[in-house]
Amino acid sequence: MEQMQIYAFEMNCVGHINHGMWTHPRDTSLHYTDLDYWVDFAQTAERGKLDGIFLADIVGVYDVYKGSPAPVIEAGAQIPVNDPLMPISAMAYVTKHLGFGVTVNTTYEPPYLLARRLSTLDHLTKGRIGWNIVTGYLDSAARAMGFDKLPEHDARYDAAEEYLEILYKLWEGSWEDDAVLGDKARAVFADPSKVRAVKHDGQYYKMEGIHLSQPSLQRTPLLFQAGASARGQDFAARHAECVFIATPTPQAARPTVAALKHKAAASGRGADALRVLGLVTVVVGRTEKEAFDKLEDYRRHASVEASLAHYSASTGVDFSKYGLDDPIEQKSTNANQSALAAITREAPKPVTLRQIIDQMVLGSRMKPIVGSAEQVADRLAAWVSDGGVDGFNLARTVAPESLRDFVDLVVPVLQERGLFKADYTEGPLRQKLFGGSGRLPSSHPAAAFRR
Ligand SMILES: Cc1cc2nc3c(=O)[nH]c(=O)nc-3n(C[C@H](O)[C@H](O)[C@H](O)COP(=O)(O)O)c2cc1C
Repeated sequence: MEQMQIYAFEMNCVGHINHGMWTHPRDTSLHYTDLDYWVDFAQTAERGKLDGIFLADIVGVYDVYKGSPAPVIEAGAQIPVNDPLMPISAMAYVTKHLGFGVTVNTTYEPPYLLARRLSTLDHLTKGRIGWNIVTGYLDSAARAMGFDKLPEHDARYDAAEEYLEILYKLWEGSWEDDAVLGDKARAVFADPSKVRAVKHDGQYYKMEGIHLSQPSLQRTPLLFQAGASARGQDFAARHAECVFIATPTPQAARPTVAALKHKAAASGRGADALRVLGLVTVVVGRTEKEAFDKLEDYRRHASVEASLAHYSASTGVDFSKYGLDDPIEQKSTNANQSALAAITREAPKPVTLRQIIDQMVLGSRMKPIVGSAEQVADRLAAWVSDGGVDGFNLARTVAPESLRDFVDLVVPVLQERGLFKADYTEGPLRQKLFGGSGRLPSSHPAAAFRR
């Protein structure tokens, strides 16, 4: 079995995925506004040799449930939410190898500015930055940004394709590798003949300009994507190097993983050019009993109300309008189509609100993996063998306790079994994961924009 990739899943807010956990007496996520919180988190992740921290983000607020933002404001469910890019410099400063996969939405900001922000972070992290490309799914964000409503689902991906083309031109093509000379004797910083303006004139974007940053170690950051509709998969297969999926079981992951790898192979990049990460919540103890006691303790803090509000926004379905035993029948919305399909089109039989609530053990839809370190390692190994995933995004429960527990208890067992690396390798994030030089391979569409 290949070694797993493991990321700690975080967000610059109090309540991320497992809602209500912040009310646990040992949880420290109320300190998310302090750099100390982030520095400690990063140091723990690197102590455990984790591949990186994956930072989610959302533009907008969850107001589908009960037609109001009040439930999530009261519960601190992804609101307030601070900028995910800001803590990265500090985390990079106290670590050497840890990667950072950061979510930035393409719909609301010009590509020219994002190109510079990500290049800057690639410089400051010495090539450890990854970008999770998302296009948004909230009308509340669209309204906040001056639009009447969210652009249509597939059109968001079409626009993102163009957005990426501009970024690839800037990152890969604007400055040649030997453009920067820094020649003090001749007083020549850079050779203007090796720096060029890139141009784009498309359906969604028009621009002309020289990239504001000089080439960074990776040039294009490691590309993550999360979004598993058919259109989302096509997009991922063309562009992404790591795809983040959320399925309840390994068996449910398998067809998505197979489709993604098949599409990546068909695009000419090769199935191995794309790694798939599953979302899991782990509650581990030194013994099975300790783990289940911990689960019971955490469980008392779970917020079903916040979880429903989050899930309503993800699917675009207001669950407050359903009785406990009503089947959820809405077939399509303009929000997250893969999340909705999982409980409608792809469900073996109609799912009811009661069934959804029953799943919300720790304030999310994820059934946690609970047990001793050995049992957790078995279950993760089964996700790889049965689901075909290449690794995991670990959702936090009680922060930072859940990360510390994983690092102290589960990581050594995975290492003993050869399922997880004993140490980091040198080089930029892409090189650590895929070998090579740290730059995108020539089979990636971005390579076409190199000089
Ligand atoms: C596991 C997972 C994680 C996601 N994380 C984010 C996120 O942090 N921010 C965001 O705006 N969208 C996030 N999304 C939403 C997707 O980027 C996308 O907008 C949404 O899934 C709709 O695409 P789809 O219909 O192709 O699934 C996530 C989706 C999935 C499945």
